[in-house]
Amino acid sequence: MAAFRGAVEAGSHALETDLHLSKDGVVMLSHDATLKRCFKDIRKVADCDWEVLRTLRTVKKPSQSMPRLLDLLEYLGQPEQRDVWLLLDIKTSNLPTLLPTPTPQSARSYAEVATYPARYASLITLSHSTISMAPNKNFSWTHFFPPKPEFTDNDISQSLSGKVYMVTGANCGMGKELARVLYSKSARVYITCRTKEKCQKALADIRGAGSAGKGGEVIPLQMDLADLQTVRTAAQAFLASDREPMLHGLFNNDGVMVGDNPGNTAQGYEEAIGVNCIGTFLFTQLLTPALAAAARSQSAANTVRVVWLSGFGLEQFAPEGRGVDLDTLDEPKPGIARYGISKAGVWLLAVEYARRHKADGIVSVAINPGNIRTELARNQGMALKLIAGAIVYPVIRGVYTQLYAVFSNEIATQFDYTKEWVIPFGRIAALRADLIPATQPTEEGGNGNAKQFWEWNQDKVQEYM
Ligand SMILES: NC(=O)c1ccc[n+]([C@@H]2O[C@H](COP(=O)([O-])OP(=O)(O)OC[C@H]3O[C@@H](n4cnc5c(N)ncnc54)[C@H](OP(=O)(O)O)[C@@H]3O)[C@@H](O)[C@H]2O)c1
Repeated sequence: MAAFRGAVEAGSHALETDLHLSKDGVVMLSHDATLKRCFKDIRKVADCDWEVLRTLRTVKKPSQSMPRLLDLLEYLGQPEQRDVWLLLDIKTSNLPTLLPTPTPQSARSYAEVATYPARYASLITLSHSTISMAPNKNFSWTHFFPPKPEFTDNDISQSLSGKVYMVTGANCGMGKELARVLYSKSARVYITCRTKEKCQKALADIRGAGSAGKGGEVIPLQMDLADLQTVRTAAQAFLASDREPMLHGLFNNDGVMVGDNPGNTAQGYEEAIGVNCIGTFLFTQLLTPALAAAARSQSAANTVRVVWLSGFGLEQFAPEGRGVDLDTLDEPKPGIARYGISKAGVWLLAVEYARRHKADGIVSVAINPGNIRTELARNQGMALKLIAGAIVYPVIRGVYTQLYAVFSNEIATQFDYTKEWVIPFGRIAALRADLIPATQPTEEGGNGNAKQFWEWNQDKVQEYM
């Protein structure tokens, strides 16, 4: 770690490191597969458990221990290091138990992409051949390598006193940081978490993070999107909080990245689609009267907004021209594909909501917040965690994308949901061209897929409306 710290302190913009797995699966940072050169030990990294590796010290001074990837990520996660890039060289020879050996086909694609930063190429090949997560032909690299954010919390110049926002999933990750920012700007912030304990902890963390704006307030609501009954209860609790409750912004931040064996929701739907789409749909529907009331009360147009957390899965997993293919939804597929499809579904809901509630003065924006270092990949295996964690950015960057979607004037004046969405870290970008027809119903010249997916969700929540 001293070497990495030294490089950063000397002004390095990027670090590159080799990865090896310990016997018990801890990702270690080591150039060599063996311990001989640095530690004068004849064993290999792969032969030793982390408990053993942690005790070793380099023979040469300053007698350092072998760091874990986690140690480096924690160091780079600090705000001062947020602009340092990290390239990870994953040794395929070291991962036979986790990943199949690359095929000749993938070896060829390795060569084809080798003009790309060489170390990253091996990651692409690896992911391509193993978990169908590598960028496909429709994929745009700008999601992975976005420019620095131009819109930050400093661009919300006005006090948010008197404004009300709802942030779902605020016990960790982007939701918690987002709630903190809104609170610091004097907003009344409703947060949702799955359990009472998580609500209390989130409340303490957000308040404890300091700098509450004058009049700022945080109010927790318990809600599990995997149980529509709790969704209704949470929405009712919010709606009962005032005579004509107003909501100036809804951040549909909650989301689950399911593993390969996802469970079912309380109402029996597969977890990814149940939480990310059906539960989110119901909550948004129930809160719409408060959003419409807030929009009526504003003199400036297009300031009341709903943000929907889609992701790069929209470009990666959405079937050509459709978004979500309801006919194949139940077919077996890896968890990561289910997650990607559900995130394409979130986008469909965002565009259909925009169409239906334009007349109410509510703006609906689908976003990819960026690849952000959060707990999202917690249900994934080691291989996917490694790949998903290879190029990630600090939480605040994803929060900037969300703030841009709700507070930027560009959204009020330029955003066209039928052609565009918002990408990291706060930019309006063109939709994948083949998806554009999905945004419009057939009677308006589209293929009606957003409408069809909306109605599919509506059918599932009817009983709870
Ligand atoms: N991180 C990224 O790179 C990335 C990229 C694209 C999109 N996104 C989206 O951004 C959003 C925020 O994610 P994050 O990255 O901040 O991850 P995170 O730290 O895992 O936060 C996800 C939040 O969603 C909550 N959640 C999960 N299942 C839920 C359920 N059944 N009911 C209610 N809440 C539930 C989690 O609560 P628990 O802690 O109780 O599980 C947590 O509060 C998600 O929608 C995610 O899909 C993230």
